[in-house]
Amino acid sequence: MKLSNLIKPRDGILGISRYKGGKGSQAAGAIKLSSNESPLGPSVRAVKAYIDSAKSLSTYPDGNSTLLKEKIAALHNINVNNIICGAGSDEILNLIAAAYLMPGDEVIFSEHAFLLYKIITLANNGTPIAAKEVGLKANIDAIISCVTKKTKIVFIANPNNPTGSYLNGNELSELRKKLPEHILLVIDGAYAEYVQEGDYNDGKSLISDTSNTVMTRTFSKVYALAALRIGWAYAPSHIIEVLNKIRGPFNLSTAAINAGAAAIEDCDHVTKSVELNSNEKQKLLKAYEEIKIKVHGGVANFLLLDLKNIAKKNPIGQRESAEDLNNYLIKNNIFVRNVSDYGLPSHLRITIGSKEQNRVVLDKIREYVE
Ligand SMILES: Cc1ncc(COP(=O)(O)O)c(C=O)c1O
Repeated sequence: MKLSNLIKPRDGILGISRYKGGKGSQAAGAIKLSSNESPLGPSVRAVKAYIDSAKSLSTYPDGNSTLLKEKIAALHNINVNNIICGAGSDEILNLIAAAYLMPGDEVIFSEHAFLLYKIITLANNGTPIAAKEVGLKANIDAIISCVTKKTKIVFIANPNNPTGSYLNGNELSELRKKLPEHILLVIDGAYAEYVQEGDYNDGKSLISDTSNTVMTRTFSKVYALAALRIGWAYAPSHIIEVLNKIRGPFNLSTAAINAGAAAIEDCDHVTKSVELNSNEKQKLLKAYEEIKIKVHGGVANFLLLDLKNIAKKNPIGQRESAEDLNNYLIKNNIFVRNVSDYGLPSHLRITIGSKEQNRVVLDKIREYVE
């Protein structure tokens, strides 16, 4: 076997650092707050629909995910023909990059944006361009200053993971207005349901009012169906048509379609989940203030802790302070997210968990700091 005969992937692919999911452990009592999953779990109606799907395992699913799309359309008051479903929103994001990027096309996202944008750009012939943030928040002027003749797509996670910051409705409209019309703006609303700030807008109106804007959403967070891989996008017809041409013909399983549809019907469960998140968040924010740990963002279901000022007490030094606390938590069977891959080596991202999980984690962090 000659090495030079080994088949080579497209340029850019070998340079990709693989996406690493949040760590966890099967050990008894382990607390996993590293992947922004819901502590409440899914609706019992969704679980029942999932189990009932066992009756139809031998037949292909509905390749158009009709039932799920109809429920989404009714909930969001949008046209069913402008929706596409995917095996997680990551599939949809990938389809967008695969459909539209040509070699050398540039893709802009903010400095500490969700890592998948860089991966899918490199995987699909594109050139990733990171726009500077101000105060760990996407900055419209910085994004616009990155635009060149080669810019094809701008991805904006709103709110962003891991910073937890967001652009308000006016800022989102301003971004769209300032971007040349031919550039595709993808608004990733994976955490949209959690946001309670009055000036937030998920960007739906921009989809109908402009020609090249897409909104993506997921069932992995507030609906707590991450294992089933369900995402969707709302986009103008010309984009839906293109994405449908290249997706897998049966990209969602019957169980995913049925469980997703049932989850949408259980509005009370979603409300409960958002309330739990909001109440726990208030408590956590107060507690972190008391122990002088700065928290960023916080409009979604996770908090980004800035551990720079506890570094002074830590002889290991500033860069390692987050890692040091992370190791301490791991020793105590607690798994949070190290965000050094995101260029944030002195921060940790912690999902807002159940009351009990949050209490245990906070106790351990207090113990570490004091
Ligand atoms: C901002 C953002 N977008 C998209 C996703 C992907 O979600 P999924 O593929 O589970 O729908 C995530 C997952 O963590 C995320 O944080």
